[in-house]
Amino acid sequence: MKFKTIIEPFRIKTVEPIRQTTDAQRLAAIRAAHFNVFQLKAPDVLIDLLTDSGTGAMSVYQWAGMMKGDESYAGARSFDAFRDAVHDITGFTHVIPTHQGRAAEHILCSALVTDGAIVPNNTHFDTTRANIEHRRGVALNIPIAEGHEPQTLHPFKGNMDLDALERVLQANPGRVPFVMTTVTNNSEGGQPVSLANVRGASAICRRHGVPFFIDACRFAENAWFVKTREPGYEGRTPLEIAREMFSLADGCTMSAKKDGMANIGGFLALNDDALAVRCRNSLILTEGFPTYGGLAGYDLEAIAVGLYEALDEDYLRYRIRSVAYLAEKTAAAGIPTVRPAGGHALYIDAKRMLPHIPWNQYPGVALALALYIEGGIRACEIGSVMFGRQPDGTEKPADLELVRLAFPRRTYTQSHIDYVAEVLVHVGSMAKRLRGVRIVEEPEALRHFTAKFEPLAGFPIA
Ligand SMILES: Cc1ncc(COP(=O)(O)O)c(C=O)c1O
Repeated sequence: MKFKTIIEPFRIKTVEPIRQTTDAQRLAAIRAAHFNVFQLKAPDVLIDLLTDSGTGAMSVYQWAGMMKGDESYAGARSFDAFRDAVHDITGFTHVIPTHQGRAAEHILCSALVTDGAIVPNNTHFDTTRANIEHRRGVALNIPIAEGHEPQTLHPFKGNMDLDALERVLQANPGRVPFVMTTVTNNSEGGQPVSLANVRGASAICRRHGVPFFIDACRFAENAWFVKTREPGYEGRTPLEIAREMFSLADGCTMSAKKDGMANIGGFLALNDDALAVRCRNSLILTEGFPTYGGLAGYDLEAIAVGLYEALDEDYLRYRIRSVAYLAEKTAAAGIPTVRPAGGHALYIDAKRMLPHIPWNQYPGVALALALYIEGGIRACEIGSVMFGRQPDGTEKPADLELVRLAFPRRTYTQSHIDYVAEVLVHVGSMAKRLRGVRIVEEPEALRHFTAKFEPLAGFPIA
């Protein structure tokens, strides 16, 4: 490229105001939310990095496509557009629309997972794990060792441990209904999976006669990492790389709220005719008729366009660069993060940033609170609050205490990221003064969403 500045590859046509608040307003808001950022009202948040799921901005072409939405119950033209796009990119024969990713997982698991079945994955996302366990199956994570090491640099830290896969399949003939690999590997920090690794997993599955599925939520971001990091793929387009990846699998589940560039939607796509019949029957029961599957015609149109936009090179260059840019700024300020930066998010290592706060005083929550109280930034703890409570009621520390700053797609500009970096550096400068929190009240499951917290004595509340 002639110039080195990477720009946002869009201009802004519609704006959504965000509101600056005073320290006192934010403090009142977080108190009212019982010091749980999930309970904040969105208008009280300045920069919302809680998730990249369904929070992005759609393009003029997506909005224009939505006007063509065919809302017919059966045989809608919009379904054809959707199916053609998914088929063109993935190559899978059967395309089953769902209202979001977990619905596709639910349908697949209902069809394939039985009591005691083992489903290996590089790392299961929470909803995949929950759907497997709901069917009394075992969700087995087999990431490579580097995936667990925040400071270890590896170009494809999201890879699956292929030796472990071989061992599991050899030791459990007939007990593994399918194998999955998640691209990018969200639970390990949005880290990519190499095509060599996907090819290896596919070959092992084929040798054992076990179907191989891809959790494709961030397939386009993964393709960009392959293009820029995997030897031999420099000259290939993200679309070609995505096609090659899907050709190695028997099917995929997808949340279109990520690389579908839509605010809602998903799909299950697969080649097996008999399995597709069973999945469609289950779809009719839980989601809707097979040509809309829980979505409006206009959603199908938005996704049909969005899937290609996610593969645009200018967009991917800007997207991946935005996260790396924040990572560089925080690294320069000595703020510990999971390295290298992931595709959709930067993960701050709260355990290292706040070593004086023990795990059971939840350093990740303390850091997320400081980011909100000081700068109006909303981020998400991924640590002992999210994972610490055990099914038997006891508590144990999570492996890592992270705070995830997830980037909504095409939503924030470089100055927003500069602002986030400035707030992070400021919070870093007050790290020693931060204190932990205690849980005042919590629900039985998924406590991070609704638990009530209280900052411990000395927490620097303005
Ligand atoms: C890797 C991965 N798989 C599945 C899902 C579930 O998708 P949805 O939220 O659309 O149900 C997500 C959502 O965050 C995800 O990141």
